[in-house]
Amino acid sequence: MRRTAKAPAKVTLFGEHAVVYGHPALVMAIPIHVTAVAEFSEDFSLESGPVILKHLALAISEGEVKVIGRTRDEVLRYFSYILEALKVLNVEKVKVSLSSPLPVGAGLGTSAAVTVSTIAAVSALLNRHMDREEIANLAWEVEKRVQGRASPMDTSASALGGVLLIGKEADGWYRKRVRAADVPLVIGLFRKRKSTAELVSGVAELITRHPFASTIMKTIGELTERAVESLEKGDLALLGELMNINHGLLEALGIVTKEVANAVHSARLAGALGAKVSGAGGGGAVIAVGDDVDEIAAALKASGAERVFVVKGAARGVHVE
Ligand code: MEV
Repeated sequence: MRRTAKAPAKVTLFGEHAVVYGHPALVMAIPIHVTAVAEFSEDFSLESGPVILKHLALAISEGEVKVIGRTRDEVLRYFSYILEALKVLNVEKVKVSLSSPLPVGAGLGTSAAVTVSTIAAVSALLNRHMDREEIANLAWEVEKRVQGRASPMDTSASALGGVLLIGKEADGWYRKRVRAADVPLVIGLFRKRKSTAELVSGVAELITRHPFASTIMKTIGELTERAVESLEKGDLALLGELMNINHGLLEALGIVTKEVANAVHSARLAGALGAKVSGAGGGGAVIAVGDDVDEIAAALKASGAERVFVVKGAARGVHVE
């Protein structure tokens, strides 16, 4: 008996970093999936498909951890999301196998998709019914335990799918579904030079040194709210313009590498109506909107993108097959 769950990755359309300070962000699930297969097993073991961990495997049996390939720390960092998910589900004798076309840490919410797909597959195996809201909440709990601090953005996008506006009010986080038109989006992945945690703390230090910089976060929040309308109407010109403003503000926060800055400008020269870094930065993902997807994709590749994807609309949330 085995159960398979597929959870989508995501792009942050607007509001990364500002969301850490409670301002709204817009996030979209994309049709690129992490697949988790859960089955009963005598021991507790984890395996990964060829891309996520490049054939690495880790087995935990009677307290002994066996790692094949790479360094132990690196492997444990990747697996910590699965281990923590199994802990919150209170499961011991299970085998989880993962596969994904994306590397972990690519800036597309892969760790959230790993967590969400694991929770969905294991809970289905155990016949413990969980709706997508419950999976989203549990996966966020796992991310907080592993990372120390996380907004519910990535886990909500992967569990619930579609386009979501996420932000904070006095009584906690909210997420609202946005009825977005399908927009042509080109995504480029660049070598990530810093971890999300380093980038988030770098921004926090910048704001401590220059408290006026917190107004940048407020402005990002305002433009994110304005972007909802552009998505609902499918107004690519307005969407692109707001993306460009958001990118400029993220540059001001110091999270954009030279390579990504050049790629954003090349995408605009190739016809993108807007382009920006997406996610924590330090390399990572770039998104560009425009109808000339082939030209924009070629420009991102020529600027050093390791992978380029074209998506035409949002994906649905996690599903069990
Ligand atoms: C990372 O994908 C996005 C950040 O806003 C961090 C977070 O929301 O937890 C930089």
